[in-house]
Amino acid sequence: MARIVLTGKVPQPAVDLLRGADHDVQAWDHDHTVERDELLQRVQGADVLVTLLTERVDGELLDAAGSQLRAVCNVAVGYNNIDVPACRQRGVIATNTPGVLTEATADIAMALILMTTRRLAEGERLIRSGQPWQWGMFMMLGTSIQGARLGVVGMGPIGTALARRARAFGMTIGYTNRGPIDPALAAELDAEFLQQDELLATSDVVSLHCPYTPDTHHLIGAAELSSMRNTAFLINTARGPVVDEAALVAALEGGQLAGAGLDVFENEPQVHPGLLGRDDVVLIPHLGSATVQTRTAMATLAARNALAVLAGQDPVTPIS
Ligand code: GLV
Repeated sequence: MARIVLTGKVPQPAVDLLRGADHDVQAWDHDHTVERDELLQRVQGADVLVTLLTERVDGELLDAAGSQLRAVCNVAVGYNNIDVPACRQRGVIATNTPGVLTEATADIAMALILMTTRRLAEGERLIRSGQPWQWGMFMMLGTSIQGARLGVVGMGPIGTALARRARAFGMTIGYTNRGPIDPALAAELDAEFLQQDELLATSDVVSLHCPYTPDTHHLIGAAELSSMRNTAFLINTARGPVVDEAALVAALEGGQLAGAGLDVFENEPQVHPGLLGRDDVVLIPHLGSATVQTRTAMATLAARNALAVLAGQDPVTPIS
């Protein structure tokens, strides 16, 4: 019997799946980020860890688990919380949950595009404030996205799913990526491959869908923001530190940008104070994959990865 430690609370079907395989499963009832000291305690003696994106899985944590540890199964597609080389050094397999959250995250990116360009959060705040208002020809005018250009930074599954949605809303698509995408997909989306500087300079909305790595740290900083149109919007549903948040505040204050829609933050859960009072930004608390169905699918996929490793099989979705 192997010991599986879920470092945080996950949807019950995933716990049931693990328990059904007759392992010693340590699950938790409280859905809050666990303090580091407690986390280091919890992982002790684990053969497999099922981890959340708020937990730093580094050499210290792997060593705290012990040399019997065989796998770390992250319940997230992004795995910047995992020190993958440290796992490799210790012969620990690392897995993530690609695919199952693609549509939910693309929905949130599209929602942020609509919310920012149509000033929806601002309008909602106005009504809730109790201030008198009435329909007016010039009241709270936004920007139409029909015919506008979406620039997708990182045309993986989520970027592609967003591009499909944006096409349905009448947007045209440009993208940057490590390389051009499959020509059939590019043709279907009528998507144009551009270098990042050209994409930033020509897009009406720029949406980020790249992983967070040392190479993408502050990918969007002061220079990039100043190269964007001052009528353009920036959307981030990837990882906060892809954007230099202080530079974003300065760009918004300087009128270099029309607005931003952010689901992720550089120092999550802290949000730069310069963003909080601004009506031209929409701020939501890392909700990209936050549906019952998607979180259940993510946790279940992580559980399947754990069981595969324990059965001596290849995991379903290893981090390559
Ligand atoms: C969510 O942010 C994820 O990476 O799954």
